[in-house]
Amino acid sequence: MCGIVGYIGNKEKKEVMLSGLRELEYRGYDSAGISVLSSDVLSTFKTTGKLINLENKCKDFKSSGFGVAIGHTRWATHGKATEINAHPHFGETSSVVHNGIIENFLEIKTKLESEGKIFLSQTDTEVIIHLFEENLNICSNYLEAFKNTINSLIGSYAILLITKSAPDKIFYAKNGSPLLVGASKDEIYFASSSTPLIGLIDRVCYLEDGDIGVMDIDSFNDLTNIQPMSGEKMSSQKDGYRYFMEKEIYEQHKILQDTIRGRILDNNVNLELPDDFVNGVNRILICACGTSYNAGLSAKYLFEREAKIKTDVVIASEFRYAEPIMEKDSLFIVISQSGETADTLEALKLANKNNLKTLAICNVDNSSIVREAKYSLLTRAGIEKGVASTKAFSSQVMLLWILGIYISQRKNLISKTQIKAQIASIKSSLEAVKVNSYIHDKLKKLSKRYLHGHGFFFIGRDIFYPLALEGALKLKEISYLHAEGYPGGEMKHGPIALADSELFCVSLMPKHLLYDKIKNNTQELSARDATICIVAQEYNDVADDIVLIDKFDSYMEEFFAMMIVLQLLALEIAIRLGNDVDMPRNLAKSVTVE
Ligand code: AGP
Repeated sequence: MCGIVGYIGNKEKKEVMLSGLRELEYRGYDSAGISVLSSDVLSTFKTTGKLINLENKCKDFKSSGFGVAIGHTRWATHGKATEINAHPHFGETSSVVHNGIIENFLEIKTKLESEGKIFLSQTDTEVIIHLFEENLNICSNYLEAFKNTINSLIGSYAILLITKSAPDKIFYAKNGSPLLVGASKDEIYFASSSTPLIGLIDRVCYLEDGDIGVMDIDSFNDLTNIQPMSGEKMSSQKDGYRYFMEKEIYEQHKILQDTIRGRILDNNVNLELPDDFVNGVNRILICACGTSYNAGLSAKYLFEREAKIKTDVVIASEFRYAEPIMEKDSLFIVISQSGETADTLEALKLANKNNLKTLAICNVDNSSIVREAKYSLLTRAGIEKGVASTKAFSSQVMLLWILGIYISQRKNLISKTQIKAQIASIKSSLEAVKVNSYIHDKLKKLSKRYLHGHGFFFIGRDIFYPLALEGALKLKEISYLHAEGYPGGEMKHGPIALADSELFCVSLMPKHLLYDKIKNNTQELSARDATICIVAQEYNDVADDIVLIDKFDSYMEEFFAMMIVLQLLALEIAIRLGNDVDMPRNLAKSVTVE
């Protein structure tokens, strides 16, 4: 979703902006722009489409010496993805970038228009700049003008503003959308996530909601909550893979080793939680969006069957406004790869307000969700660049599985033998996520037959139902084909009406969980001529096509092995269709608006 960068210093500001925006590119955007203020000249460039267009547009622009700059990648909310609607938005002497949504923008715009102000764009953001310039005329100083402007806004925002009235400064405000400021010797950087800052700064401050201020080269140390920041720039190379998504699918074997490191012992599991963590917890409520929701739904089956803990799972956007009943003995778990998803964050705030014990399962340390939750556990998947989540999902399921065992171990809900068996299964699941080249080749070939039907059903039962949901989500995200995940037993209650030879049905048939039941459901579709592709350990006669996974002794290994098949199937179909797998249309990696 939208990304922000800002800079104060002596480097070539255009290059700093472009390279910062490149680091945010994977999050998804439809237009981009920068403003540079140097030697009293304010220059703005914006374009639609990819950053290369912006680079071409400003290729002859140079700004040497000290100055300030702001940059933005936009994911359209108010107004189409046009050049005029791209950020920065500028007035006569100032320029602004903004993430989030200004809910009362129409009211402000109407008032300003009635006073003769001309608006160029259809965005909510443009009101900020005109309001600021109006306030500059009436306030005694620029900070007061900025504060008055921000105090008139209702909604969520991370805002950076530069103005010729204060040419060495960046004004900033945060409410609901993430914003960081960092410093190194003689330089200040802003960004909406830590990715563009890694390797450039040695100190960082994660701004809090309600923070409004102005920054110049000397004022970083006036901030509170400054933390050291280290780390090399993460390798953003594809290492020979065609797409980041492909690399991330292959990485899962290594990632899961990191996820379980120090958490799995010989006879028990251990987590970075206080000894009294489970005290007073009798049930679990999980809240998340998208793939993270699918991981949460998978955890429900594990928590209830294997760990004997009652669990409910809710989509975060539905939870927020439903006036949910929150029982005090619930552990409220939010799951998020990015840690910035607006709906999940708001659901978490609601649970905190209701004094629930809250736990974040997250991939990004110091993200808004990690900071908001009372407890957190990191999935350790590393930066995920493909918009379609893969390694984040497997690491979430793995960590939740361990969490379930941890809670039931602490509460003596399951026996030592059961715990040992699960630990053995966790260890062999690490083998199940290794990509088998035979299976990958098979899916490359198979993919050409699955391009032109009228839709896909992914079916599974029990924990293979959330996996079916995830398989369908992966396919629709990157191939743009219509795909739905269903519990196998639900077909005959309506969806089977769609069955004909142009309907592709991917059936997940684990040997170790409800095999006969899902076989029956698959047979019912086959009898109505649907084209059936089964994923299983052994051949059976229902299939038109079959993807054989390796032999495993329990259903969770089969779960992870089938997950790899579904991820690769989506990847290969999308590649055949010529789509941009890593940055699919209309999608953003981190969804920071509700
Ligand atoms: C996954 O492939 C998606 N891109 C999307 O559903 C994602 O899982 C969802 O937006 C939630 O994101 P989060 O995990 O960062 O909170």
